[in-house]
Amino acid sequence: MLRQVLAAAVLAGYALLSTFAVGPAPGQIKNLVTFGDSYTDIDAHADGGIMWPVFAAQDGNFDLFPFAKSGATCSNNLTSRSAPSVFESQLPSYFAAKANGSLAQLKPEDTIYTLWIGTNDVGVGELLTGGQTPGVTVVDTVTCAVNWVKTMYDSGARNFIFQNMIPLETTPLYSANSWPSRYWTTQRNTTEWSIFMKELTTSGNTIAKLQLQALAPTLHGAHIGLFDSHSLFADMFARPQLYLNGTAPLNVTGAVHACVFQLNESTSDPGVCTDATGTDQDSFLWFDELHPSVQAERVVAKAISDVTHRRSENWITWLS
Ligand SMILES: *[C@@H]1O[C@H](CO)[C@@H](O)[C@H](O)[C@H]1NC(C)=O
Ligand SMILES: *[C@@H]1O[C@H](CO)[C@@H](O)[C@H](O)[C@H]1NC(C)=O
Ligand SMILES: *[C@@H]1O[C@H](CO)[C@@H](O)[C@H](O)[C@H]1NC(C)=O
Ligand SMILES: *[C@@H]1O[C@H](CO)[C@@H](O)[C@H](O)[C@H]1NC(C)=O
Ligand SMILES: *[C@@H]1O[C@H](CO)[C@@H](O)[C@H](O)[C@H]1NC(C)=O
Ligand SMILES: *[C@@H]1O[C@H](CO)[C@@H](O)[C@H](O)[C@H]1NC(C)=O
Repeated sequence: MLRQVLAAAVLAGYALLSTFAVGPAPGQIKNLVTFGDSYTDIDAHADGGIMWPVFAAQDGNFDLFPFAKSGATCSNNLTSRSAPSVFESQLPSYFAAKANGSLAQLKPEDTIYTLWIGTNDVGVGELLTGGQTPGVTVVDTVTCAVNWVKTMYDSGARNFIFQNMIPLETTPLYSANSWPSRYWTTQRNTTEWSIFMKELTTSGNTIAKLQLQALAPTLHGAHIGLFDSHSLFADMFARPQLYLNGTAPLNVTGAVHACVFQLNESTSDPGVCTDATGTDQDSFLWFDELHPSVQAERVVAKAISDVTHRRSENWITWLS
């Protein structure tokens, strides 16, 4: 009798643990569902090769369900672009697929949902250069991203990783030592861009953290991880020898595929490109003026699969 009571208590304990513990249990997650922009779109190959969700699915033995689309912002209401935004396109695609039964294998308890967004929201053509819907600020774009968690939770999702913005001011496009590139060729003060970008990424990430901390206790039974892409990329920038392993000198200021344009030149021109090839490519933090390299993507993938399986707590804070 005592043994039965004990066994029941232990079982109840496990059930309680898995419901109330912080973060998913090791081995719990089997499916990875990704939302975001070109940093996560597995078809656009913005790193010139394989993207992090594909590496993460291999590392973590996850089935991958990719919804991220290159060029996306959180919402076209706020920062309008022709690309498929999270709220007007990616979420509707997900809900349509869910409704027609093609996502039947996604059980809430063994599925984790990720969002990595913001690069285009704060970038050229939007907040940085004033192209957003009048009156919209980084408070709105970040609130939108955090609202993705709530929207997914309301539809039944329970496990989340929210990937914050990298220090975009260290990309070739937004650094003070920038050159005219396919992303921007008109006159600008690169120092001012870099300062403003740092303001946007750091304040945006702080807003996201505070909002997620406030949201987490209200979503019962959810596990929400804040993945600190910002610190990870800052560390790769500061200590590349820990992450980059190519055969060229380590390089965090240039790019695998760096193309210099003339001032005012059409951005659809090819530019004058310098390309690293073969194993030299793994020496670079950036693939081009805006995107991480394949080696940086491998680092992100390993970190995400490790934190999801609780092999590591590096770069993640489980808020619930
Ligand atoms: C975008 O605007 C439409 C129309 O006002 C509104 O129905 C929708 O909820 C808005 N979406 C977001 C993400 O704010
Ligand atoms: C289900 O919906 C998704 C998204 O609209 C679509 O891509 C897919 O082809 C549909 N599948 C079936 C079996 O209808
Ligand atoms: C660019 O902006 C920086 C910071 O505001 C300023 O110090 C510098 O003088 C500006 N450069 C030019 C060429 O205007
Ligand atoms: C660098 O390390 C990754 C694993 O992170 C490996 O897949 C890749 O082949 C390595 N690159 C080189 C040039 O050795
Ligand atoms: C980094 O790469 C760029 C090409 O994008 C090159 O011009 C630069 O010399 C490299 N820097 C170092 C330190 O190798
Ligand atoms: C670039 O375009 C701007 C605005 O049209 C013009 O003021 C500037 O002189 C042009 N510079 C060059 C180098 O063509």
